[in-house]
Amino acid sequence: MTQDLDSIVEAARAAFAQAANPAQLEDAKAQFTGKSGRITELMKGLAQLSVEDKKTRGAAINQAKQAIEAALGARRQQLADAELARQLQAEALDVTLPGRVREPGGLHPVSLTLERIERIFASMGFDVADGPEVESDWHSFTSLNNPPNHPARSMQDTFYVDLQGDDGIHYNLRPHTSPMQVRYAHQHVKRYADAVKAGQPMPEIRVIAPGRTYRVDSDATHSPMFHQCEGLWLGQNVSFKDLKVVFTDFCRTFFESDDLKLRFRPSFFPFTEPSAEIDIQFQSGPLAGRWLEVAGSGQVHPTVVRNMGLDPETTIGFAFGMGPDRLTMLRYGVNDLRLFFDGDIRFLRQFR
Ligand code: PHE
Repeated sequence: MTQDLDSIVEAARAAFAQAANPAQLEDAKAQFTGKSGRITELMKGLAQLSVEDKKTRGAAINQAKQAIEAALGARRQQLADAELARQLQAEALDVTLPGRVREPGGLHPVSLTLERIERIFASMGFDVADGPEVESDWHSFTSLNNPPNHPARSMQDTFYVDLQGDDGIHYNLRPHTSPMQVRYAHQHVKRYADAVKAGQPMPEIRVIAPGRTYRVDSDATHSPMFHQCEGLWLGQNVSFKDLKVVFTDFCRTFFESDDLKLRFRPSFFPFTEPSAEIDIQFQSGPLAGRWLEVAGSGQVHPTVVRNMGLDPETTIGFAFGMGPDRLTMLRYGVNDLRLFFDGDIRFLRQFR
């Protein structure tokens, strides 16, 4: 190869090396082997040479052209490799990054208790009923043998709703679930009215009514919003003995403790006579030995039975009202009721 051809090949290699991308590389290529590129021009010049010179010069130009094409091919490959590497880098996946997990949710501890109460009483043949939290004065008090201006009304520090219906009814945020006794009994009486007219006996009422209740009260063991679960069992021949059996069975199942002791302590409620507070005593564990109050109860007062639309001469039974929040505290060893209603995820997560 002659001197001039060598320098053209060198110039081509330098131009290719400078090309930073395929488009620039093709531009550079055109300067050497394109239609009016330097090699192409030299080829055109061969026409003026003698046959002998054409041969040697032509071979030399061809050799130079091949060297340029080899350099071009090598640079094309280099650029393609670099592009691929860039893409791989850009689309890289860090498989060691922790994934996005959806944390499993869970029920609130009091909801767990309510579900547990419902399951246990359902297994004893109790229906589960739901009712309004804004109640009429009649349902919350009067129907439950607690007439206006009776001192027993102050047993509950009630929230009154600043609203009076066209019918003159006063409303309150129910201070207990006991109004559900009367509401459910009314539904029951309505449901079986035709059967009773036809001379058939009224089926027993067996129901629990869990739900939110409200009182003007707030400290470590009282919250203005709390939960109660009412129970009612009425029939022709339902006695205090049945209450003892049912409630003992419930407590032992709820706390999974066969040697749990129960005590029925005489008390007063306007809607039951006789009335009793129900205390429980664990025989082992951190709470062993202390009597802990868990419910109010009693034989449904004849006036209440009458207000239900039933005949107290033939219908008798008992009612109880327990505190699911209290039961939850005892079951899990929680010492401050407010923790249930603060919504602190660190506390709630423990029950998941
Ligand atoms: N309603 C009563 C209370 O809130 C509890 C209770 C219910 C007592 C049913 C007797 C019968 O304290």
